[in-house]
Amino acid sequence: MAKPKFYVTTPIYYPSGKLHIGHSYTTVAADALARYKRMRGFDVMFLTGTDEHGQKIERRAEEAGKTPQEFVDYIVGTIKDLWKLMDISYDRFIRTTDEEHVRSIAEIFTKLYERDEIYKSEYEGLYCTPCESFWLESQLVEGKCPDCGGEVELTQEESYFFRLSKYNDRLLELLETTDFLEPKSRAREMINNFLKPGLEDLAVSRTSFDWGVHLPFDDKHVAYVWVDALFNYLTALGYPSKQEDVEHYWPADIHLMAKEIVRFHSLIWPALLMALDMPLPKKVFGHGWLLFGGDKMSKSKGNVVDPVVLCNRYGVDAIRYFLLREVPFGSDCNFSTEALITRINSDLANDLGNLVSRTAAMIRKYFPQGLPDERETGSPDSELRQQALELAPKVAVDLDELQYSKALTEIWALVSRTNKYIDETMPWILAKDPAVRARLATVLYNLADVQRIIAVLIEPFMPNTPGRIRTALGIPEQNAAGRSLTDWASATELDLYCAPEGVPQSEPLFPRLDLDKELEALEQFAE
Ligand code: ME8
Ligand code: MG
Repeated sequence: MAKPKFYVTTPIYYPSGKLHIGHSYTTVAADALARYKRMRGFDVMFLTGTDEHGQKIERRAEEAGKTPQEFVDYIVGTIKDLWKLMDISYDRFIRTTDEEHVRSIAEIFTKLYERDEIYKSEYEGLYCTPCESFWLESQLVEGKCPDCGGEVELTQEESYFFRLSKYNDRLLELLETTDFLEPKSRAREMINNFLKPGLEDLAVSRTSFDWGVHLPFDDKHVAYVWVDALFNYLTALGYPSKQEDVEHYWPADIHLMAKEIVRFHSLIWPALLMALDMPLPKKVFGHGWLLFGGDKMSKSKGNVVDPVVLCNRYGVDAIRYFLLREVPFGSDCNFSTEALITRINSDLANDLGNLVSRTAAMIRKYFPQGLPDERETGSPDSELRQQALELAPKVAVDLDELQYSKALTEIWALVSRTNKYIDETMPWILAKDPAVRARLATVLYNLADVQRIIAVLIEPFMPNTPGRIRTALGIPEQNAAGRSLTDWASATELDLYCAPEGVPQSEPLFPRLDLDKELEALEQFAE
């Protein structure tokens, strides 16, 4: 039987400067979902990329004394390096300067024009270049862009307009009656702020600068960068000229992003698809912001935290863990070094790291030849085993609902339960009495077997740690019968651990950090 497909996307980021930890947040979340779905047997398409046209990029390049193409080529290089560093397993990386994308956008505009979905008129209004957004006077907050609080510019130019207003009722129905947009609070916002007052037609071309896709039917116009960008989710699959991947992967199962661009994805994007009679994506999810000192971390505000510094210093898995664990996915998260170090120390060094190293040390010490086959069960065993057995289905439900933090909390509840099991069974006391060797072996076996399950379930979040846990406990990738000990199904069964002959000495998974020292050390990287 053919595998079911799963298509997940991140926004395509502006290569207007190096990316920061906020961009890593969405990308890590998408990656965890992609890895989880692959483990569950899906044929996954995980798309990310860069949004390279528009006035903002053109200006940045000019400031840097480079051509726009030179400028973006350099930044895109740093972005790909970052995703490599962070173990982002994307399947495709689209750049809106890719020749094929440019050709596709031109064709799409022609199609819309021929269908009379766009028409020529005059635009007069305000434009926010950092957000690449059109605004009406009435939408401004104290004369500034309502999204970023920046200056807006008066713009008056000939423009093509998309008949967005025509789709107001269908969009209203979509957001009111389906789960298309989540969290639900964002759907209410869209309904109250934009759909109830009524959408206006949208200017979708510009003539006052050059860095974009020129419209084939009117060459002095370039495509509005947001329309150029939104279609990446389809052009990356070959739309409109190649059907195969479009038929296979479209509609997208989920578009992930932060809340500030939900408006584009839940109003303009579905309307454009309706205009082309294309199926709509199944879900748009707008997560919260990483805040820094209470303010949104952003390139234009200069309060950014560099993920490269953090990953090199603390390890990619620790950063990924922090991002997905700290707050529920829809909520804002105050990013602070203190919160990061505290999490690493408590959850990773103390709880998980100690569990693994204590278990490994005891197996090494008490059974240097490996665990014997004799077993003797005891009272806390069934509770621990039951909790371990129930974990994978819970994590699955959580991840299907994008509840990363809840999933990790549940996994860590088992980590704690397992640590408690050590305290309850006190293997070091058992080890003193040769008459209870079978009981000691059983305790250590249960400990290792549960950690085998934990290793599988943390893989979507922390791709490097499972292998290190397996090495520490001597767990092979497959057992003697050729059964995988790394796949999802293996996390739904007990007693698959096979005792190796002695476990090797290994490094601690997550060394404990000194908070004051780290705060001081990170100061020097402050931007
Ligand atoms: O908007 N907290 O690109 P962009 C959480 N090119 N997430 C954050 C964040 C923060 N402080 N900062 C950035 C664009 N992000 C367009 C998108 S898509 C067709 C075009 C993440 O470089 C989050 O996903 O401004 C946010 O939506 C995205 O980066 C914005 O990236
Ligand atoms: Mg932005």
